[in-house]
Order: sequence, then structure tokens, then C-alpha cells
Amino acid sequence: MAAKKGLYPSLLSADFAHLGRDCRSLEELGVTDLHLDVMDGRFVPQVSFGEPLLGSLRKSTSLVFDVHLMVEHPEDRIASMKAAGADRLTVHAEGCYHLDRVLQAIHDAGMESGVALNPSTPLCVLDYILDKADQILLMSVNPGYGGQSYIPSATGKIAELRKKLDESGHADMPIQVDGGISVKNAAMILEAGADRLVAGSGVFNGNMADNVKQFLQMI
Ligand code: DX5
Ligand code: ZN
Repeated sequence: MAAKKGLYPSLLSADFAHLGRDCRSLEELGVTDLHLDVMDGRFVPQVSFGEPLLGSLRKSTSLVFDVHLMVEHPEDRIASMKAAGADRLTVHAEGCYHLDRVLQAIHDAGMESGVALNPSTPLCVLDYILDKADQILLMSVNPGYGGQSYIPSATGKIAELRKKLDESGHADMPIQVDGGISVKNAAMILEAGADRLVAGSGVFNGNMADNVKQFLQMI
């Protein structure tokens, strides 16, 4: 069972020429989880990386692989992601025709599941799937790129979700928030009810060790 709270550095902002080195540095700093942004060039405009990269990295790090699938038809990637070493698959509600079935298939494959919502997607899409998810990911930018600015309306949405989870018997469900998070706005996001902070540029830009230490102190 994964810890409810944590820092999830996003590999998208790491140095792609030195990924193994960056993962080792994160582990030495006390990070336990790595956020991997998989993009297919359809659900979002760009392509990032996929199973071959995960498989290579899996051999050189023991970080938990928290995979954020920004892809259409994520059901097609469940078996291959498991084989590549993924520990958790988070799929976008907007990218699934049959979200309930996809979440069940992720569990059946032996991984934890997550549901991601774009900034404009209402929380009511979660109403009938909470028992099949292990985390909810609220996007605080429109997905597809690192380095964007945090969308302020995400803060109220986090608080609303926290309330909804607490009142529906899902108080243990972690809320992960992704996009535009730095040491400057992290406290506010945690205060609103976030448990897991994803940060790409907020971790890797500037001094990574200082950034990670500051994040970990707050979480
Ligand atoms: C955006 C990705 C994020 C991205 C965050 O679509 O899901 O995980 O890497 O990058 P920053 O923290 O720079 O906004
Ligand atoms: Zn992400």
C-alpha cells in the first residue's frame, strides 16, 4: 500500500540524456515515487516516451512508477505498461469510453489505478467509480506540456473533491495534483486538501536538491 502523501517528480522535466543519474539523485534525496507522463500525440499534441523507456529505467531504479497515461484508448496499454514495470496507471476519464472497465482491468493486471480529470471536467464523473480507483489526479494545467502556469480555479476544485471524498466514505483516497506546482504555491495546494504533489519544472529547474528538500518539508 503506497503512502497517502508524497512528492512525485515528473520525469518530463528531467535531463533525458541522464535519466538514470537523475533518478539516483532523487532516491538519495528521499524521494520514493516517480511520475511518468506518457503522451500519444492524439489525446495531447506531443509524444513523450513509452514502454521501452520505462523498461530500461526499471532496471536502474527502485522508485515507484506512477504512470500518467495521456493517451486515447488507455486499455490498449495496460498489459505492456505492466510488463515495462509500471506500479500504478492513472487514466484520463476524458480518454476512456468505458472507465469502469478500464479501472477493473488495471487491478486485474496487478497495478494500482488512478483517474485523472482535466481542469474543465466536473467532479461528478467520479460518482460511480470511486470504489475502483486508488487515487484521483486533478490536473491544474491543461495536460500535454511541462512548465505551464497553475490554473487558480484548481484550488477550489481540490477542496471540493476533498469534501466529496470525506463525505462519501473515501477519506483515505489520495488526491494527486499535477501542473504548475512549485515550492512557492505548494503550501496553498496542500492546505486545500492535496496529498500528492506532482512537480516537473518545480523539481528539476534550478537546484534540484534544494527544491526536493523544500517540498518534502512541506508534505
Ligand atoms: C503535464 C504533465 C505534468 C507535467 C508537469 O501534462 O501531466 O506531469 O510534467 O510539469 P510542471 O510541473 O512543469 O507543470
Ligand atoms: Zn502528469
